[in-house]
Amino acid sequence: MSGDAQKTFYLETFGCQMNVHDSEKVVGTLIQEGYRQVETVEQADLILYNTCSIRDKAEQKVFHRLADYKKLQAQGKKFGVLGCVAQQEGEKIFERAPHVSLVCGSASYNKLPGMLVQLEGKSAAREIPRPAGENGVLQDDAASVMSVWNSLSPEPEAWSPVPESRKPEAESLIRITGLDDRQTDKCFETEFTSRLNPHRGYITIIEGCDKFCAYCVVPFTRGKERSRTSASVLNEALQMADLGYTEIQLLGQNVNSYRDPDGKKSFAELLAAVGEVPGIKRVRFTTSHPRDFGKDIVDAIDAVPTLCDHVHLPVQSGSTRVLDAMQRLYSREQYLQRINWMKSARRQISITTDVIVGFPGETESDFAETLGLLEEVGYDGVFSFKYSARPNTPALSLDDAIPEAEKSRRLDVLMSKQKEIQKTRYRKYVGTECEVMVEGHNDARAQWIGRTSQNKTLNFTAPEAATPAVGSYVPVRVTASFPNSLLGELVV
Ligand code: 5AD
Ligand code: SF4
Repeated sequence: MSGDAQKTFYLETFGCQMNVHDSEKVVGTLIQEGYRQVETVEQADLILYNTCSIRDKAEQKVFHRLADYKKLQAQGKKFGVLGCVAQQEGEKIFERAPHVSLVCGSASYNKLPGMLVQLEGKSAAREIPRPAGENGVLQDDAASVMSVWNSLSPEPEAWSPVPESRKPEAESLIRITGLDDRQTDKCFETEFTSRLNPHRGYITIIEGCDKFCAYCVVPFTRGKERSRTSASVLNEALQMADLGYTEIQLLGQNVNSYRDPDGKKSFAELLAAVGEVPGIKRVRFTTSHPRDFGKDIVDAIDAVPTLCDHVHLPVQSGSTRVLDAMQRLYSREQYLQRINWMKSARRQISITTDVIVGFPGETESDFAETLGLLEEVGYDGVFSFKYSARPNTPALSLDDAIPEAEKSRRLDVLMSKQKEIQKTRYRKYVGTECEVMVEGHNDARAQWIGRTSQNKTLNFTAPEAATPAVGSYVPVRVTASFPNSLLGELVV
């Protein structure tokens, strides 16, 4: 650490909303431990990356960052890797990036305070650690702080061999690991969450995933499913409302697998209860799995006006054959039944999805079924990805890989089709009035940035005399539409 009175850290986050929210909790934990957050790597004593391994490209990002800043190690800065890559690759990270001192998986954040003490203790004493492979540098409480995830050996292709000449350097570093196994039953609950936005905040209701979709690394990196009690979730929602938050987003890898450990509330009941917390104006939830998506969720949206009229329901493919190969546990028809529940609701529910193209064995006709599904459902947004082979996942053993160029072609075709669908769908809002939450101001465009309950971006102009406050809810008349956003003017 530097000679500063207060220890400083820099944290960069990659990946999904779960990671963004985990980072808010990590920041709160570090501040509680006496650290101060800084804006640049150069100002920091401790540099942390909260990582994502959902696709290969995401995983590579952290190694690029670590390589970019390796030279700062000479100034005494320490590096830590948190999150899914940490959990997936474990101690191998020390081989690939020998200047890393701390590796903490996404299921082990509650051990961070202890790990930080170890890190500081080590650096203060300038202790010479043991060789790589004996990374159990924690002694007394080693068993409680670490349990290395032996069952998950990383993919050999993911590792560049460490040249012999670099090994002594690697061995002269502090190495601390927190890698819980898949069986952990702990949630990362902390009262020290440092939320980024003062109006809209996340609450994790369930961690981990037991679904094991054939392509997905998440069940390996985030452990088994474990839900928080509805009482604890509601308590957090009440505290947030007291602090002035008006929008809450319930988070989980699979929110509708939620099982209240106290047996008091189903997911739909919890959703409704959060929506009824005084002061809360909007509640969102993500991500849903079609298999566990019950009609009671649609009924709750109809019954409780604060529940946003938007559902993100990842389909992944429109072909039942591919869905079977993906081990998604539903057919195209069952998925469409969920869509029909939403289309029959009294409120008009906006639907978005995730799609993977080029899963091994996906034929032209499977792909055509996915394109047909986009048309049939009429999504307001699609996140589309090229299939990326991930370590440990069942799909690794499948034959019939789709060539990269063909995956790219399918992705382009899918994106242009969806763009046309969205153009038509967004056009229908022109002339209507929507309530938006004001998110900020775009100075370059002289426009306010707003978000509708359906999660659409609605940018708008307002007369100077009626400047809206960020975080407030205002009515806006839509005057123009684009494939991904709407434009309007404040109704005064
Ligand atoms: N390759 C490509 N996309 C993936 N996703 C998850 N795993 C993979 C993978 N191996 C996508 C899915 C998921 C989203 C978060 O990321 O569409 O819903
Ligand atoms: Fe991955 Fe499937 Fe679990 Fe979603 S439901 S996190 S895609 S395994």
